[in-house]
Amino acid sequence: MTEKRVTFVSKIGVVAAAAGSAVGLGNIWRFPSQTADGGGAIFILVYIGCILFFGIPLMVSEFMVGRSSRANTAGAYHLLAPGTQWKWVGRLGVLTGFIIMGFYMVVCGWTLVYIFQSVSGSLSGTTDLSANFIALQNNPMRQIVWMILFTLLTAFFILSGVKKGIELSAKIMMPILFLLLVVLAIRAITLDGAGAGLNFLFKPDWSQVKSTLFLDAMGQAFFSLSLGMGCMITYGSYFNDNTPLVKTAVQVSLLDTLVAILAGVVIFPAAFALTANPATIVDELVAGGPGLLFITIPELFNQMPGSMIWSTFFFCLLALAALTSTISLMEVVTVYIHEEYHISRRKSTLLVTTGVIILGIFASFSSSFFNFLDVASAKFMLPIGGFFISLFVGWYLDKKIVYAQLTNERSLKYSIGFLKTYIFLLRYVVPIAMLAIFIYGLVA
Ligand code: PFF
Repeated sequence: MTEKRVTFVSKIGVVAAAAGSAVGLGNIWRFPSQTADGGGAIFILVYIGCILFFGIPLMVSEFMVGRSSRANTAGAYHLLAPGTQWKWVGRLGVLTGFIIMGFYMVVCGWTLVYIFQSVSGSLSGTTDLSANFIALQNNPMRQIVWMILFTLLTAFFILSGVKKGIELSAKIMMPILFLLLVVLAIRAITLDGAGAGLNFLFKPDWSQVKSTLFLDAMGQAFFSLSLGMGCMITYGSYFNDNTPLVKTAVQVSLLDTLVAILAGVVIFPAAFALTANPATIVDELVAGGPGLLFITIPELFNQMPGSMIWSTFFFCLLALAALTSTISLMEVVTVYIHEEYHISRRKSTLLVTTGVIILGIFASFSSSFFNFLDVASAKFMLPIGGFFISLFVGWYLDKKIVYAQLTNERSLKYSIGFLKTYIFLLRYVVPIAMLAIFIYGLVA
């Protein structure tokens, strides 16, 4: 089984594939709405702290578990910890991936609707963009059709082979998406009244601290970096022996955070500048929840010449970024079923696709079910998975394996202090801090 696994050949392919999984709707759709809800700058500060202290060490750990076992997320625990209960961490990850797809695919479907509306010109002709989004939300059948389409598209890529699809689309799409966001950010911050949006984003207002701030930021960090469910374990299993794990984790996290903040720099200045009532804009943004991206960005396009072209281009890129993430989600679940139950790849894909569509149908009909899937996975299941992965690498995994993986069998030179700090973080800092955040978030 292991010999047949493909590995990424080019260096850029490795980073691109992992970054392709990380950069997605989590950055451009979920991050802004969480930031609005979390009080702006203060949320971003805590979020960056979570990326540094939890995100990067855990991403390295997931890569490590994947590469040292060369197996899927559940199989990795069978191989590295045979006969123990650690396998449940892998299984939890597979379940989490399935649950995330249940609502993520619905949002992916929205991006397709917006591509369609952009091309047909109906988006640039709409003056009430909130009403346009609400109409979509109130039309489950329409959401279901597009959600199914996106799920099938993902399944098609899964069947056509991991490497080709992901590497290529991530390598081409990511730089273009980045550039487009830069252009949009420039347009947004040069609008009259944009300064208030930048203040909201970058000037911490300590009176805004909510009791769930840490839990929300931690959940968003896990979600955005694709951590806690073994997605990066699966990717790590495809890495070759020379891939530097720490460097790759730092690069992916940096890129992911940059894209998220850039999305914030587009959306908030635009939202503040284009609102009719600046006094209530924050409440509106919070109330708008998942609609933020789908309302504010088209409003911004309507301020630009050639809005139809811009919005077509933007939503196409967004759909592509989402696709490289859904591929990684579906890959985790499919490979698990394929390798653990010895069901063909084709049949496993069919099974997963059907399950996701069923979940997506429920999420399209009920926004509270949609929110339940979102909260359960991002705020609970991913951090719980991350907590156990940190314990696994910090306490259980043979330190010889850990050091060999970190240094690529001693070909990379890290100081012993660095290696010890890494283990210390995983043994004590990450699990204790996560536990404290959980308890505080739940009881406060
Ligand atoms: N990181 C993706 C995003 O930000 O859109 C979502 C995601 C993909 C979460 C894969 C978890 C995962 F395993």
